[in-house]
Order: sequence, then C-alpha cells, then structure tokens
Amino acid sequence: MTLAVDRERLTGELDALGAISQEPAPVVTRVVFTEADLRGREFVKMLCHDTGLEVREDAGGNTFARWNGEDSTLAPVGTGSHIDAIPNAGRFDGTVGVLGGLEAIRALMRANCRPRRPIELLIFTAEEPTRFGIGCLGSRLLSGLLDPAIAAQFRDREGISLDEARSAAGFNGPLSEVRLPEGYYSAFVEMHIEQGPILDRSNIPLGVVTAIAAPASFRIAIEGEGGHAGAVLMPDRHDAFLAAAEIALAVEATAKSSGSRDTVATTGVCDVFPGAVNSIPNRVRMEIDVRDIDQARRDIVLQQIERAVSEIAGRRGVQAKLEIVNADPPAQCAPHVVDTLAKSCETHGLRFERMISRAYHDSLFLSRIAPTAMLFIPCRGGVSHRPDEYATPESIANGTLVLAEALARLAAE
Ligand code: GLV
Ligand code: MN
Ligand code: MN
Repeated sequence: MTLAVDRERLTGELDALGAISQEPAPVVTRVVFTEADLRGREFVKMLCHDTGLEVREDAGGNTFARWNGEDSTLAPVGTGSHIDAIPNAGRFDGTVGVLGGLEAIRALMRANCRPRRPIELLIFTAEEPTRFGIGCLGSRLLSGLLDPAIAAQFRDREGISLDEARSAAGFNGPLSEVRLPEGYYSAFVEMHIEQGPILDRSNIPLGVVTAIAAPASFRIAIEGEGGHAGAVLMPDRHDAFLAAAEIALAVEATAKSSGSRDTVATTGVCDVFPGAVNSIPNRVRMEIDVRDIDQARRDIVLQQIERAVSEIAGRRGVQAKLEIVNADPPAQCAPHVVDTLAKSCETHGLRFERMISRAYHDSLFLSRIAPTAMLFIPCRGGVSHRPDEYATPESIANGTLVLAEALARLAAE
C-alpha cells in the first residue's frame, strides 16, 4: 500500500474552514451552535459526503462519518476531533484532527486499502467550554460521564439552555441516546496540534501522546456592594471586583507554590457588573481553570484556592459562591494504540517523541470507553488559542500520513 497525502487539498480545506468565523480573518471564533459553527459543520459534512462516507448526527450534534470496511458489523476504528473554537482563536486547534482525519481516510481509499473494520470520523460537539462553561460536552455525553438530564439544563450567559440551543440548531431527540456503548470503537486516535512548544523547539516532527493531564475548573460568583464612585468613601466599600482581583492573584500564587511546574491555573473570565466607570462593582463572575498531570496535587491546589476565596471574601465583606464545574481525572493512553502510532511513525521514517498532553481533548473522555491515543503535530512557538496559531502544511501532512498508516493497521486487526 502506497500512502500519499494530498497536502494542497488539505491546506485549502483548513483555510476554507478557518474562514468560517464569527470574526474577520485571521481571527477564528466558532462557538458551538452559532451560525458560524453550523456553517463549519455543513462544510465538513459536504466533504464527508463527497468522500462517500455515511454521515449521521446524534441528538447532541456529534457527527459520525463512516467508511464501511470489509465487515461492517465489526467495531470501527475512530478518529476525529472538534471544529468549535474559542473567541479569538486560530485555524488549527481541532480542525487538523477533523480535516486531517478525513484526508487520512481519502489517502487510504486512493491507496486501494480495504480495511477489515469500518473507519469512522467523529466530529465532537463543543470541545471548548466557551458557551456552556464546560469543555468536551459531546465526548462527555458519548462516554456516559455526564448526566444528560443535567447537561440539558446547562445555560449560556444569555440564559439559553443546551436543550434550547441544540434544538434551535436542528438537533433534537433525547440526549440520553448520545451515549455510546463501551466497545463501540475498537480503537480511537485523535490527531491535534501540540499547543505547546516541545516539538517545535526540538524540531521533532511528531508527538505520540501517552497521557492527558487532569483538568478542573470552577466558577465563582461574588456579590459585593455597589454605589457611587465619587460618594462612597474607601473604608466603607465592599468592592466585588477588588475581591476578584485578590482571588486571581491567589490562584496564581497557589499554582506557583504547588511544588511542581506541571501545576497551572488561569483566571480566564472575570465579568464585572455593572461595568460603569463611575460605579463601584457590585457583582463579579469568574471562571478559573486548574490543571496538573498529578490529580492529587491538582486537588490540593483546588482546596487551597477554595480556602483563599473564603478568607478574601470574609476579610472584604463580600459573598463568594464557588461552584466546581469539573474536576476530571487524567487519562492514560492505551499502550497498544500508542505502539501502533509509534510503529506508524517508524514506517514512514518520521522521528517522534512520547509526550504528555497538557491541554485536554475529547480523547480524555473517549479513553474511558475505547483504547485511545493521540498524535501531536508541532505548532509554531507552541502558540495556540490565538489567531497566530500555525502549523506548517508539511507537519500536518506528516501527521496525516502517520494517522492513515495507524488507522489502516488498527482497522486490519
Ligand atoms: C482545550 O481547548 C483546552 O483548553 O485544553
Ligand atoms: Mn482549544
Ligand atoms: Mn482542541
């Protein structure tokens, strides 16, 4: 079998998907179930149809595109990622795993490969937490780790529930039917940009992921006392934003003092109400992300932040309500799928590094129901979640070639 990736076509498709955005290029913003997300989905589905794949969507909008193998009754090999994008993002996060996965399937078709098992491309709904505050919505539901009844009631900042948003986007039916049975996939491989600097810095073409770090996040609602910015004297204030500012600094200090550089914490959302220059902030809504490759250490940091929040709130005379949104365990990748990826790199003479994913991915949840591993592509300067995120066509083609090889091997088993 001679595999060849159509680099130009794949680059063109990545550019075209990147242009589907809520903001002008080069900014990519494609929040789940917005018009841009729906147009992005249509674009990808059209490509899947053109490839001759069987496309189906579940009630949560997860999209499956299947190439039936010699025995369509066998559990398929899965690959894929997401196409939603956080505000002010770039073109490659998620999309290389979707469009690269599709090109890997086309490369296998062109090479006259006849897989024994079906190969299925999976486009997950809402890997990003932007709209409903929790990441990997689609894969959490697929793996049965999120109660569908609770998920249905998640609300965005406008108060629109997940149920309302999915139904407006044309996805109806019970969310409880989204869950896949364990063993649905014989193996799952997600290709993704590294989103960190290791491969780019050391000029290594590919990364084979052996584990995914443990992410957690929480929301804090702070209620202080508003008032006139001129008239209320400083000793009389209970400024909600100043409490939030202290909390954000405590989040940083706590992560820095965990004893490991693998602990990271970020205050990425801080909405201040009423948001007027001459009004003392009376309400703040914060969202905080905490991660580590060591779950126990991450959990200690979460507890320390909780204590800091109540100390700061007490001292400043404000109310702070803290809600854990998610505190997921890390995932170990399946040794057999890791080895298959490693062998596939070797077959094509591409050096690789075994590494940990510090970003989370839908594979974190797929790994609970299927033997899963990931393939990383270098990205320039390790930059991601920014419009200048970049991966070279050569790197993407290398990854796609290895992905195709790995899918062929796994589908032959
Ligand atoms: C995924 O986008 C992450 O935040 O790790
Ligand atoms: Mn992302
Ligand atoms: Mn991603």
